[in-house]
Amino acid sequence: MKEKFNKFYKKTLEERRQILKELNMLNEKISLDEEIGDTMIENYVLNMEIPLGLAMNFSINGKEYIIPMAIEEPSVVAAASNGAKTLGNIETSMDRKYLIGQVVLENVEDPDAAIKILEENKNSLMDLAEEHSQSMIKRGGGPKEITFKKFDQGFVCIYISVDTCDSMGANTINTILEALAPLAEDLTNSSALLRILSNHAIESVVVAETKTPVQNLDKDIEKARQVARRIEAATKYANIDPYRAVTHNKGVMNGVDAVVLATGNDFRAVEAGVHAYTVRDGQYRSLTSWTFDEENDLLLGRIEIPMAVATLGGTISINPIAKWSLQVLSNPDAKELAKIIASVGLVQNFSALRALVTDGIQKGHMSLHAKTLAKQIGVKEEEMDEFMRSLLKADKVNLSLAKGILAKMREED
Ligand code: HMG
Repeated sequence: MKEKFNKFYKKTLEERRQILKELNMLNEKISLDEEIGDTMIENYVLNMEIPLGLAMNFSINGKEYIIPMAIEEPSVVAAASNGAKTLGNIETSMDRKYLIGQVVLENVEDPDAAIKILEENKNSLMDLAEEHSQSMIKRGGGPKEITFKKFDQGFVCIYISVDTCDSMGANTINTILEALAPLAEDLTNSSALLRILSNHAIESVVVAETKTPVQNLDKDIEKARQVARRIEAATKYANIDPYRAVTHNKGVMNGVDAVVLATGNDFRAVEAGVHAYTVRDGQYRSLTSWTFDEENDLLLGRIEIPMAVATLGGTISINPIAKWSLQVLSNPDAKELAKIIASVGLVQNFSALRALVTDGIQKGHMSLHAKTLAKQIGVKEEEMDEFMRSLLKADKVNLSLAKGILAKMREED
C-alpha cells in the first residue's frame, strides 16, 4: 500500500482518486448533503467548501498514517509530508482525556463555609453526577473528580472532571452540571449563575516527541548541525517574545486545525484551549520545543498540547467527510486521534522553522507554485528541470510567465 502513495503529489487528481479507488478508500465522490446541512445549523443555505488533501510519511508510535487535512492555505500539506519524512517516528503519550465542567455559584455570603459544606457533601454530589451519566459509565467513562474553589466577589466554583470516552461529551457534562446545581444551591444558600463545560482542556494534554538524527536535515553534516542549532534558537526566541510565539504557534495550528476540521471536530474549542494553555505560566509561549543534542547529533522535538477531540457523536457521525477522514486514519479512538493531531502540529512547526532558518519561507512557496503551474500547462518530465530553473529565476512566478518560458523552450528545441 505504501508504494501506491509514492510521489502521490506528482500524480494528477484523476490518478490520485484512482489510487484511492483501487485501495477501496474512495469509491464515489462524497459531500455533505443539503438535507444534513439543514439539520446541522439554522437558516442553512449552502456548504462552505475547503480543500481536503492527504499528508504522507507519518509514523506515530511505530504506526504509519495517511493524514487527511482540510485547509485552504497552500504549502501546508506539502510541508507536513516533507517534515514527517525528515523527522521519522513520533512517540506520543496522553494520560487521560477528561472534560471539565463548572457550576459557578454567585452571591455566596461566606465562601469558606460554602466550600466546607460542599466538601462534606462531595459523595452526594458525585452520586448525583453518576446517576446522570449512566450511559457514559457503561462505556467505561463517567465522572472522576469534584473540586471547589472560591473567587472574589462572592463566587464559588464547583469543577467536575468527566471521562467522556470517544465523544466530546458536551451534552453529558452539561446534563450533569444542571443536575448538580440545585443541590449546590441548597447547600450553600446561593444561586447557580453558570452551568457549563470548560474548554480549558488541561486534563486532555498530549505530549508528542521526536528524536531525529541531525544528518536527516542536510547531506552536509556541518550544515545540518547549523540548521539544528538555528531551530533550537528559534524556539528559545519564541519563548521570550510573544510577537514571535503567536506566529510560531500559528504554524503549529496550521497542522492541528486542518486535521481537527477534516475529522469534524470543534476547532473553536481546540483553538481556545490551546492558546489558554500556552499562557498558563503568565506569558504566551511556544507550544513546541526543539533542542540540538550536540553530543548525540540529534534534534529533539517536543509538543505539549491540550487536545479534547472526539471520534463519535456530535456532528462527526452525520458528516460523511468527517467519517471518511476517520476511516483514512483507520478509525482511531479519541485518544489516538488526539495523539495524531499533536504529532501533525509538531511536524508542521518543524517544517516552517526549517524553512525560516534556512532559505526563508518564500523559496519553498515559490517552488511549489512553480510546480503547480508546470502541471497546469503540461510541462513534460524531461522539460521540468530547465523550466523550473528559468521560472524560479524570475522575480515573480505567474501563469503568463510560465507559458512564455515553456513556449520559448520548445521554440529553441
Ligand atoms: P522541498 O525540499 O523543495 O521539497 O520543500 P522536495 O521537492 O524536495 O520534496 C520533499 C518532500 O516534501 C517530498 O518527499 C514530499 O513528501 C513533500 P517525496 O515524497 O518526494 O519523497 N512534498 C510535497 N508533498 C505534497 N505536495 C507537494 C510536495 N512537494 C514536496 N507539492 C516545501 C518544499 C514547500 C515542502 C518546503 O519548503 C517546506 O516545508 N516549507 C515550509 C512551508 C510551510 O511551512 N508552509 C506553511 C505556511 S507558512 C505559515 O503560515 C506559517 C509560518 O508563519 C509559521 C512560523 O512563522 O513559524 C511560517
